[in-house]
Amino acid sequence: MGCGDYLVVLVLLVVYSCVAFTVVESAVVPLPESVLRWFGIAGEEAGSCGPQLEIATPACKVVETRKEYELRKYNTEIWVETLVGNSTFESATSTGFYRCFDFISGKNSEGMKIEMTSPIHITPAPHTNGYKVAFFVPSRFKAVKDLPTPQDSEVHIYQSKGAVKAVIGPFGGFPSDKDYEAKAAELKKALDKDGLKYDETTVLYAGYSSPFQFRNRKQEVHVNVVA
Ligand SMILES: *[C@@H]1O[C@H](CO)[C@@H](O)[C@H](O)[C@H]1NC(C)=O
Repeated sequence: MGCGDYLVVLVLLVVYSCVAFTVVESAVVPLPESVLRWFGIAGEEAGSCGPQLEIATPACKVVETRKEYELRKYNTEIWVETLVGNSTFESATSTGFYRCFDFISGKNSEGMKIEMTSPIHITPAPHTNGYKVAFFVPSRFKAVKDLPTPQDSEVHIYQSKGAVKAVIGPFGGFPSDKDYEAKAAELKKALDKDGLKYDETTVLYAGYSSPFQFRNRKQEVHVNVVA
């Protein structure tokens, strides 16, 4: 790998800056009635939760905080996403980052520039032997049709469904795929212990910290909880 490649990987492995994050422990409530109740929160106004940054992050609401993880309700959101198949974690993350970054930098049908947000989502896509990389689109865009068309045919815009997610983290450093997999295993073990069901295919890695931030970095692993 040349110097440039290392820089790309660095830019990639890292993604945003952030400030303090407070974990408040609360009593564990019985399940699954509580799960059903969380799904009933739809429509309620979402505030901010998770790492708080100076750039836009998806609105969400903490429904419950447990020892190993937090449960958050996310509303529908718009994401710019690309799939990088047949690729290692480092390479897919780098390639995917630049495809999405090019889109928000003006490589789209209107030459529109869209501000950077946080986090970046990296989703393992085992059936393609690769990963999906996605950027959150600022919430002033209300629908997919409000956005210009990507010039790169590998880049897609989609609207996510609202979901209740179990979140482990934040954890620091520059996590590798193995580090993220270990956190995901820890999260699933805790959910299994609590009898909470989750959709294995929705496991994703959320990177919040900027490439130039070496201390106090923050990453999380998310998975959708299902009723
Ligand atoms: C991965 O490589 C195989 C074999 O070359 C190819 O058929 C497949 O389309 C590739 N998948 C992706 C998602 O790029």
